[in-house]
Amino acid sequence: MSGRLITLEGGEGAGKSTVLAHVQQQLAAAGVVPLLTREPGGTSAGEAIRQLLLDPAYRGLCAESELLLMFAARAQLVREVIRPALGAGRWVLSDRFTDASFAYQGGGRGQPIERIADLEHWAADDLRPDLTLLLDLPVAQGLARAGARGAADRIEQEQADFFERVRTAYRARAAAQPQRFRLIDASQPLSAVLQQVAAAIDAFLQRSLPA
Ligand SMILES: Nc1ncnc2c1ncn2[C@@H]1O[C@H](COP(=O)(O)OP(=O)(O)O)[C@@H](O)[C@H]1O
Ligand SMILES: [Mg+2]
Repeated sequence: MSGRLITLEGGEGAGKSTVLAHVQQQLAAAGVVPLLTREPGGTSAGEAIRQLLLDPAYRGLCAESELLLMFAARAQLVREVIRPALGAGRWVLSDRFTDASFAYQGGGRGQPIERIADLEHWAADDLRPDLTLLLDLPVAQGLARAGARGAADRIEQEQADFFERVRTAYRARAAAQPQRFRLIDASQPLSAVLQQVAAAIDAFLQRSLPA
């Protein structure tokens, strides 16, 4: 049996990293020990690209460079880590994936959706997640949480209207692909968020694992 790719998406401070640890435990308890990865990054070349993407020193990076760097890291991650793992029957849990490019580089930076779809096709080897949890919350709330975490990276330094466009693009994508996405209300207290997440993962396990 080939593995499954589950991705966590959402804006800054939505709770992706927090939720990821819980999903990992839930899957492991069901006998599925997932491989964890994150974007941008997840390989040694990809983590070097991540540094470049997030360093506020590169404030002048143009939208085209940003998009191509995101996909350069993703191309490597898909071929070096995710495809081999899925092929070996391993489940993969990723903190962000291609939906983030549609939201940030598409919605946020205005890069054409068709170009991003082309990149998804050839650079990301047409790999699509089996399940995507979108942690959705008001921009100000997410930024307040992320702000408490430490210094803002290059992308976190954007203005609120950028993050509003990112949120709108994420929500539109989730609405257009309801069979793959589960929209989670991440504005709630963590315990309530985790309950919604656990229910979504449980339902996915039910339909994925042999009875
Ligand atoms: N539902 C929640 N309610 C309140 N605080 C939360 C919630 N989820 C996460 N946090 C806190 O918000 C901050 C950002 O969470 P994190 O998981 O790092 O978000 P992300 O990875 O999406 O940027 C962390 O300090 C985390 O403990
Ligand atoms: Mg995080």
